Amino acid sequence: MRVVLVGPPGAGKGTQAQFIASHLSIPKVSTGDIFRSNVSTGTDLGRKAKEYMDRGDLVPDEVTVAMVASRLAEDDAQAGFLLDGFPRNVPQARTLKQLLADWSLRLDIVLELVVDHDEVIRRLSGRRTCRQCGRVWHIAFDPPTRSGVCDECGGELFQRDDDREETIRHRLEVYQLQTQPLITYYADEGILLGIDATGPVEDVTDRALVALRRFTR
Ligand code: AP5
Repeated sequence: MRVVLVGPPGAGKGTQAQFIASHLSIPKVSTGDIFRSNVSTGTDLGRKAKEYMDRGDLVPDEVTVAMVASRLAEDDAQAGFLLDGFPRNVPQARTLKQLLADWSLRLDIVLELVVDHDEVIRRLSGRRTCRQCGRVWHIAFDPPTRSGVCDECGGELFQRDDDREETIRHRLEVYQLQTQPLITYYADEGILLGIDATGPVEDVTDRALVALRRFTR
């Protein structure tokens, strides 16, 4: 199955992606995670991406698209994938469509996580991420047993640089301007399904899996 998760910053895309991908036995391809991993290891790609990410702007399409195309060509993505954070604008969506068409493939479903603005702010300001395994926590909604330490692997938890208040505000504006038009684009393609992404994480996962079953061809 080939799935795209879309939704504003903090909607829970990364949180849901880990459960859905594991349930469907497909790889999760998160452009934000790939960029962050390149930033932390100091690669050329990381150096190119960092200034945009720190500001909360989108990394230029030519950089992002090349990275996704090479990731989707890997063996583990041949039977399906779940994209988290890509596409992020209509040109990226068109490029993805063409890339898949070149391989005689197409997307099955675009799942939109619907959450209101205030909830997004609450989620982003309390988010903590494990430096070692990438597991996402929340200091109030999904706290680890020991503050600052990941329950899964014992790694150190950190707050993302782009989760500062000003940057959050800018990321939300970027979402409205550049990513929101994707909702109409995919609705017109007939593969968009929105789900309520509020409430406990497990409830959102259940809603997502029900939605995905409806689109399995
Ligand atoms: P990216 O990492 O994709 O950031 P984002 O889209 O802003 O999304 P987030 O990771 O902030 O939020 P999320 O929806 O994954 O929420 P999460 O699950 O963590 O991108 C970062 C940057 O990289 C971009 O700004 C850009 O510069 C660049 N980039 C990436 N892709 C790009 C592209 N395609 N083109 C160009 N540039 C690109 O959850 C948030 C918090 O809420 C967590 O603490 C979690 O525990 C909590 N939570 C989750 N679900 C619930 C729930 N149901 N109830 C209560 N709390 C919950």
